[in-house]
Amino acid sequence: MAQQDDVFKKIVSHAKEYGFVFQSSEIYDGLSAVYDYGQNGVELKNNIKRYWWEAMTLLHENIVGIDSAIFMHPTIWKASGHVDAFNDPLIDNRDSKKRYRADVLIEEQIAKYDEKINKEVAKARKRFGDSFDEAMFLQTNGRVAEIAAKRNALHERFAEAMNANNLDELRQIIVDEEIVCPISGTRNWTEVRQFNLMFKTEMGSTADGAMTVYLRPETAQGIFVNYLNVQKTGRMRLPFGIAQIGKAFRNEIVARQFIFRMREFEQMEMQFFVQPGREMEYFAYWKEQRLRWHKALGLGDEKYRYHDHEKLAHYANAATDIEFQMPFGFKEVEGIHSRTNFDLSQHEKFSGKKIQYFDPERNESYTPYVIETSIGVDRMFLSVLCSSYEEQKLEGGDTRVVLHLPETLAPVKCAVMPLVKKDGLPEKAREIVNDLKFDFSTHYDEKDSIGKRYRRQDAIGTPFCITVDHQTLEDGTVTLRERDSMQQQRVAIADLHRLIHDRVSLNSLLRKLG
Ligand code: GAP
Repeated sequence: MAQQDDVFKKIVSHAKEYGFVFQSSEIYDGLSAVYDYGQNGVELKNNIKRYWWEAMTLLHENIVGIDSAIFMHPTIWKASGHVDAFNDPLIDNRDSKKRYRADVLIEEQIAKYDEKINKEVAKARKRFGDSFDEAMFLQTNGRVAEIAAKRNALHERFAEAMNANNLDELRQIIVDEEIVCPISGTRNWTEVRQFNLMFKTEMGSTADGAMTVYLRPETAQGIFVNYLNVQKTGRMRLPFGIAQIGKAFRNEIVARQFIFRMREFEQMEMQFFVQPGREMEYFAYWKEQRLRWHKALGLGDEKYRYHDHEKLAHYANAATDIEFQMPFGFKEVEGIHSRTNFDLSQHEKFSGKKIQYFDPERNESYTPYVIETSIGVDRMFLSVLCSSYEEQKLEGGDTRVVLHLPETLAPVKCAVMPLVKKDGLPEKAREIVNDLKFDFSTHYDEKDSIGKRYRRQDAIGTPFCITVDHQTLEDGTVTLRERDSMQQQRVAIADLHRLIHDRVSLNSLLRKLG
């Protein structure tokens, strides 16, 4: 675990050193849980968004996009349930004055039991070697059974308290489990209170009577309130989807793990409107589709798993997370939710406008049901970054830090380098840049030794380096170096475009999805 923490720290500092992610307002000592994307980060982020957007809107003829405003009428958040129910249970430690999410403290306690079981398994595996049967061990070992019983009882009690919104019981669990504050080490806890996560601001001058508006905590509501507009103007027939990418804001109590939990972040959401009664069929469909989208990037199939929700959000009748193996464990990157007709019905009720679909096949009007896919851009960015980072030992004792980014997502696709800064090589290299730059993000680099230049490109994940040498001037060939294998081949300048395109184009990635 400590080793994984170290790796994560290295990734965070690498992200800063190479222009991917900076702390917001850093020269003023930063703003907690808010981050800025640098020159390479913004390119990687845009490429992730483009991959998602095109997978949604190009590959599905019944999905269209919108871009709705961040400010919306405040009644929308009343209708959606966010004013009343978008809360986290918080608890303070009186000695350290630190605030925690009560549910997170308990989840961490459950994870401690899991860790204990894993340790017992690891010890037994070492002892029994090849003959070790894990399933049998878990069933028959007395100590493990005891820990598992405690863990399961806690889990059950916790789920019940959360489902019933029982704040006293949450506090009691913390007391009974003897959970201590990691800062003060004491158990001097306050009551548990609900804390609404929406940011508020005011619109209009006070003389006019300013209106309280919220910074949206999800982009989805912008889709729901435009459902009729899009359905009518686009002459859309069910089933159809509306996709949107945009900023969302949550006043998270526990904001940590870098860009994993932020107060300002970006979501890519798609609401798929279906006939009532067919929602489970489409829920299964989108679960499978979304996992395929992730896996097509080649980060490693074993790094993903589904996690079905036990406690459902106020709007859902089924929900699954796609979790990714981060250095700090499997964590949610995307949610797939069956939201029933809750949101549209609520907006119908609160706005007084009829929000119905006339189904020509059924010859009746009804409120569509909705399957939602909702992924955080920043979490996706973090999963790509973490799984790409490698400190590699090279032959001869040298090391290099390389980002094995999926080639399509890399901020820079190729770097062109003259071997020396003379003899007409820089001019030839510039000529190649001027040809490639229309199709690929291309860097020109002539500073330092060629080895140092390769390392710089490896560190930002550039898949190809093109070196122009004296032979280039004679026969029109260059060396093409691949980031991962570091192998170099001599290729004709005329072939560069095709060779690079075949590997980095979004098109070939999208084709994997069919
Ligand atoms: N519209 C449904 C919705 O917003 P959610 O599970 O609360 O569902 C969806 O959020 C996704 O948004 C999450 O899977 C995560 O990737 C991202 N997300 C949520 N809160 C976040 C935060 N504070 N920082 C970064 N990403 C966040």
